[in-house]
Amino acid sequence: MEVGSSTVAYASGKVILFGEHAVVYGQPAIAIPVTQVKAQARVEAGSESQGITIIAADLGQSYSLEQAPPDDALLAIVVSTLEHIGVEKKQETFATLSPGLTITVSSTIPMARGLGSGAAVSTAIVRALGKHFENRMSPQAISNLVYETEKIHHGTPSGIDNTVIAFEKPVYFIKNQKVKIFSVKRPFLLAIADTGIASPTRIVVSDVCRAWEREREKYEEMFDEIGTITEMGRQAIERGEIETMGQLMNENHRLLQLIGVSSPELEGLVEAARQGGAMGAKLSGAGRGGNIIALVTQETRSRVEMMLRLAGAKDVIVTEVG
Ligand code: PMV
Repeated sequence: MEVGSSTVAYASGKVILFGEHAVVYGQPAIAIPVTQVKAQARVEAGSESQGITIIAADLGQSYSLEQAPPDDALLAIVVSTLEHIGVEKKQETFATLSPGLTITVSSTIPMARGLGSGAAVSTAIVRALGKHFENRMSPQAISNLVYETEKIHHGTPSGIDNTVIAFEKPVYFIKNQKVKIFSVKRPFLLAIADTGIASPTRIVVSDVCRAWEREREKYEEMFDEIGTITEMGRQAIERGEIETMGQLMNENHRLLQLIGVSSPELEGLVEAARQGGAMGAKLSGAGRGGNIIALVTQETRSRVEMMLRLAGAKDVIVTEVG
């Protein structure tokens, strides 16, 4: 480690195309990276300092290892990464690490909107520490480390966020199975529109879990249907059948409504996108708030974007997939 050196790394956001919620119950889901929004982590080694300091620039917070609460997600990822790299064996010795490390994080990914902000910040930290200590980590190793901190954010995460963000590729994901990276035959455009409402994934996921416990059969049927849609979605993407994809997005949204994770604001944006000419639209991520995604073309994108903004979207990003 070089004193006075500074290393920067980034990680993209993500959206789920198909399969959210059902993925927690063992069904497949498809997610893609969104490179227009990013988390950044900078690691600096200072000769004057000792121990570890974390600066969360967007929140205006700065704290040392000893000051952090035990469930602090930033601290958790820093400690587990340093242990993984083998910088020190035990967390207690990090307090006297010399030269000290300052880790500054910032992000343009809105928090709690289904864009993977927590996993992206953690991934940027792992990458920056890996670069700093010249330790090459595979995307799977990065994903595994980030998954542990996702539990702090999400409770019982399926692992899709850390996987798509660490691999930076479209992924077909089934919990506890080796991830499949798949090819996109014909690139397509997605408009991602933000309700502006923060919706913690942990709460929505536990509400769905309670509903499933009350009506197991009904919920499992819906999860199965979503699984089938996701599988068909993958085939449509691999074959370049974009219109089919749009229909499948609409179908997936209908099932998410039935599961109980939509909201008036999400409905308003989905409706606006369809009226604007989108080939399909659905909520994306945990639901209740956060984002919707709409399948658009070069011809429809500006009209859809206008309709989304008129319907109250706080932000609209158009991203190309493939
Ligand atoms: O982080 P979000 O809001 O994109 O939600 C993750 C998707 C869920 O399927 C609802 C939860 C999970 O862990 O997969």
